[in-house]
Amino acid sequence: MDPILTKYVSEPNGYALDFYLKHEGYQALKKALAMPPNDVIETVKASGLRGRGGAGFPTGLKWQFVDKKTEPRYICCNADESEPGTFKDHVLMERNPHLLFEGCLIGCWAIGAKVAYIYIRGEFYHVQKVMEAELAKAYAQGYAGKNILGSGFDCDIVLHRGAGAYEAGEETALIESLEGKRAQPRIKPPFPAVAGLYQKPTAVNNVETLCNLPAIITNGPEWFAKLGPEKNGGPKLYCVSGHVRKPGVFEASMNTTLNELIFERAGGIRDGHQLKAVIPGGSSVPILLPHELDIPASFDSVQKAGSMLGSAGIIVMDETTCMVWAAMNLMHFYKHESCGKCTPCREGGDWLFKILSKIERGDGEMRDLDLLTSVSNNIAGKTLCAFGDAEATPPLTTLKHFRAEYEAHIREGRCTVPAEWRSRGTLAAAH
Ligand SMILES: Cc1cc2nc3c(=O)[nH]c(=O)nc-3n(C[C@H](O)[C@H](O)[C@H](O)COP(=O)(O)O)c2cc1C
Ligand code: SF4
Repeated sequence: MDPILTKYVSEPNGYALDFYLKHEGYQALKKALAMPPNDVIETVKASGLRGRGGAGFPTGLKWQFVDKKTEPRYICCNADESEPGTFKDHVLMERNPHLLFEGCLIGCWAIGAKVAYIYIRGEFYHVQKVMEAELAKAYAQGYAGKNILGSGFDCDIVLHRGAGAYEAGEETALIESLEGKRAQPRIKPPFPAVAGLYQKPTAVNNVETLCNLPAIITNGPEWFAKLGPEKNGGPKLYCVSGHVRKPGVFEASMNTTLNELIFERAGGIRDGHQLKAVIPGGSSVPILLPHELDIPASFDSVQKAGSMLGSAGIIVMDETTCMVWAAMNLMHFYKHESCGKCTPCREGGDWLFKILSKIERGDGEMRDLDLLTSVSNNIAGKTLCAFGDAEATPPLTTLKHFRAEYEAHIREGRCTVPAEWRSRGTLAAAH
């Protein structure tokens, strides 16, 4: 599949409005503004576009749920991108900002919103600067603000840089943060489609999701759907990181297999080592083993294999990785990033880190393995937001596949991965 979203990201001027206009920029918006809003929603529904932020929820359906009787309504673009192993949205924002602006405006037209907020990850200072400069040009030339393209449609785009918290990416925490409060999730229902930003109907959509809209409007829903397997259409951005020769962001159809992404696009495993484990959807999802990777990297196939495509952050670990250390490292991130609103997540994450550290440094006891399982199971499914499930995953998935490695640490009082191999980077402190 030829790149669609990232076609021009390597062009030196690819991010600029002039360049965008020379390459059919804002033509899809023009077409959408000539359609009744509901037809835009129906087109997106027919395309089968699924959200690229993690859950893979159908975008058209989400827009249909937005309460159209209440005003004002909002689009909140989730540009928080804090899931470990995920670095695709920032490429789109920095190298193709007008594609995102155009997607936001099409979304606003569809649901009848007059403002789109783009909530940018706190650390993306440079990205924000690029977007600010390009947004100013879009306003000056009539592609945002009042009477867009002479259509009579008024719509503002507001850039908002977050304060640097993983949890701010959860959609209701993002809304709280936009309102100037701590980024802690709300109890759902009501869902944002009914009572979101300032208690008004809101659609929260990921950057990559919105960037798909211009191509859907231009080429039609059937074209989009046919790019991938059934119900997994369109182009997809994959972030391949870890022990591969050429880590990076790769655009591909969801027909592409995980093996192809790792061994062809990302150049295979570095330094002649063997592949040990892959986390296919950002740090929050279960591990897949090398023999499980000959499957399409689609939402449905990865779920069928027992994991999730999530944010498509494919983290590759070779045989030099100590899985106890890897779980401890991830837990350091989760315990740091818990927003603290519910007890199992706030307290449990800290305990999981303590137990993992004890085993990792060689002081573990066999009964610690049951404790790890029990604490994890008392977090998963028992918290206000999906962070709890994510936090319980590293210990549960590493214990499931690599229990022998845990037992060896306890029996021998040390790490059993050869000393010259051991991955001992800095612990993944979040920010
Ligand atoms: C802890 C946590 C962090 C999240 N972080 C992000 C994020 O950085 N970006 C994102 O788009 N979605 C993130 N999500 C998912 C959002 O809650 C929401 O589902 C998504 O923005 C919806 O957009 P989509 O339908 O386009 O996928 C996160 C969810 C959780 C529970
Ligand atoms: S699960 Fe964790 S991050 Fe989510 S609301 Fe509860 S304490 Fe906050």
